[in-house]
Amino acid sequence: MIQSSFLKTQGTKVIKNEHNLGLSGLSTAQILEKFKSCGLLLFRGFEVDAQKMKAFAEQFSSRFVRDETRRRVDSRDGFVGLVDGGTHYISPHCEHANSPFRPDVIWFCCVVPVAQGGETLVWDGVRVWQEMSEELRTLFIDKKIRFFQKFPAAAWRHFLGTGSTLVDVKRTLDGLEGVSYQINPDQSVSLDYVCSAVVKTKYGNHEAFANSLISEYINPRGVVTFEDGSPIPETVINEIKEIMNRLTEGIPWQSGDLAMIDNSRFLHGRRAFKDTRRRILTTLSYLK
Ligand SMILES: [Fe+2]
Repeated sequence: MIQSSFLKTQGTKVIKNEHNLGLSGLSTAQILEKFKSCGLLLFRGFEVDAQKMKAFAEQFSSRFVRDETRRRVDSRDGFVGLVDGGTHYISPHCEHANSPFRPDVIWFCCVVPVAQGGETLVWDGVRVWQEMSEELRTLFIDKKIRFFQKFPAAAWRHFLGTGSTLVDVKRTLDGLEGVSYQINPDQSVSLDYVCSAVVKTKYGNHEAFANSLISEYINPRGVVTFEDGSPIPETVINEIKEIMNRLTEGIPWQSGDLAMIDNSRFLHGRRAFKDTRRRILTTLSYLK
């Protein structure tokens, strides 16, 4: 059901290996144009694996992001990892949108799909924003969101690279919009990040409700509040969830699929599953 609705209604987003030329036979310029208008592309029939995903992503990317939370599968440069562990539902979020280090694109490739469940879920933040009531929109225009997180030294060292120091932390964080931070005696870093829940998409300048508010509210890795520290009412969260439930799309994975997702526009998550053979890989990048 999900498979057919995704492939039928979002047909322009699916790029098939029709001429058997592989990913290298695709025009980078044409793919980029399609990506800019759709925000989500699914490449099917290209037998993509970790190396092919990384090589293809390099054509579009200026740099990649290390993610300390993922198990690495590509030992050559450490930029490809397994998606979040476990088999549980993962609520909607944009990758690293609770920090000032939100990458432009999240790439996924499917090595082993599951027979049932386990779809990667996606929500178009532009549509979410359009579906919101006037009251809700006014609330998020008027009030920014505050994300608080604490990063142990091992976490920021992994993110900034081996051998990085507190000088690098300061150089990285000083002057960043919306950021205030504190370095603790144990060298952990407490980070406050204030941003709007509604962002302009990287392409097309659309307004999108593309953020990590819901996931940080439901499964907090830190604390999320309004900018002034006041709690976000549960009624507000429930109203957002009700809208998003109506707009959920699932990527019906097949082995060898590759997805390219605009992280300034689309939120993503995951349906729960039972089959532990599921193997989805990911990498994060900034576009050229
Ligand atoms: Fe994610």
